[in-house]
Amino acid sequence: MTSLRNARITAVGSALPARLVPNSWFESFLDTSDEWIRSRTGIRARHFVGEGESTASLGTDAARRALEAAGVPAEAVDLIVVATLTPDRPMPSAATFVQAMLEISCPAFDLNAACSGFVYGLSVAAAQVQAGAAERVLVIGAESLSRVLDFTDRATCVLFGDGAGAALVEPSDEPGILGSVLELDGTQADLLTIPGGGSADPPSEETLAGRRHFIKMASGQAVFKRAVTGMAGACGELLEKAGMRPEDVALVVPHQANERIMMAVANRLGVPHEKVFVDVAEVGNTSAASIPIALDHAWRSGRLAPGDVVLTTAFGAGLSWGANLVRWTAPAPAPAEGA
Ligand code: UT7
Repeated sequence: MTSLRNARITAVGSALPARLVPNSWFESFLDTSDEWIRSRTGIRARHFVGEGESTASLGTDAARRALEAAGVPAEAVDLIVVATLTPDRPMPSAATFVQAMLEISCPAFDLNAACSGFVYGLSVAAAQVQAGAAERVLVIGAESLSRVLDFTDRATCVLFGDGAGAALVEPSDEPGILGSVLELDGTQADLLTIPGGGSADPPSEETLAGRRHFIKMASGQAVFKRAVTGMAGACGELLEKAGMRPEDVALVVPHQANERIMMAVANRLGVPHEKVFVDVAEVGNTSAASIPIALDHAWRSGRLAPGDVVLTTAFGAGLSWGANLVRWTAPAPAPAEGA
């Protein structure tokens, strides 16, 4: 039997759309306030795609930044996995367009695990590299959630943003990606969903009139509670499997849905709040893109150093949730010229 190789993240990159939308923008047409959004979620602003921007274009920009930081040419990539719930088209995949924009030739596919997409994608990429099936995998989380938001529903539209993050996964001598826990409770699909537009409820005048092409959340509070128990549980299970304690973790990089959820997870785990990376204030909830964007922000701002143990964890529609345990190995890139 051939033994498995180790896999590690060698670089990350991210991209946000040009248009920045502050909370105050929603006050002009909804019964909401900057104060409510900030105090309930921690969000101050988010970015929305505009002309010429899409899930695939953001994903490509994020991938280019990761490749540049790793010093790896795009042609060396032999698999692209795009985690998204907002592909450019239902068919073909967003990964198809990323591959074309990178002007490379390799297999590429989308993976939809909603907000847990990057956690699932990193696990898939690590397995491909560990098994020797791929040498360099780009795992991209990319979303254009503004395209599926109901701007008459204040309970959801203020929460989400657009963006993309990418991680390059390569073989390594020492273990880098230490393990993952992936979970799903398919009985709770209706709690958070885009009900229309798929094969069960194809696009029609009725789906449009019923606003069924937009994100619907049946109960924010129920999702909140399940998110806290799900993420804390997955993190605890993963640490136990790896024989580590919460004290061994240098940085928790959770899915950025709500600052209160992140801090409740930290409390349950017994991790001090300073060890939780939070950038939800500037980006909102970017679903599958949120962890790789946060990893990139943490890395480029000096919050991640080689040797650090990083715990990522996500929760979202499905209900899906999970966690990855990573030993960080990449030294922070030199700041861009003029930065
Ligand atoms: O990516 C993973 C998926 N999503 C999540 O993880 C979201 C999980 N849930 C949450 O983050 C929180 O539940 C929310 C941020 C969505 C809501 O916070 P909450 O503290 O749970 O508020 P609530 O739903 O209990 O609503 C409190 C009040 C309600 O009014 P009443 O019934 O008390 O009069 C809502 O109608 O706040 C009202 N409300 C708003 N008010 C102003 C709901 N949305 C808004 C809004 N502006 N945008």
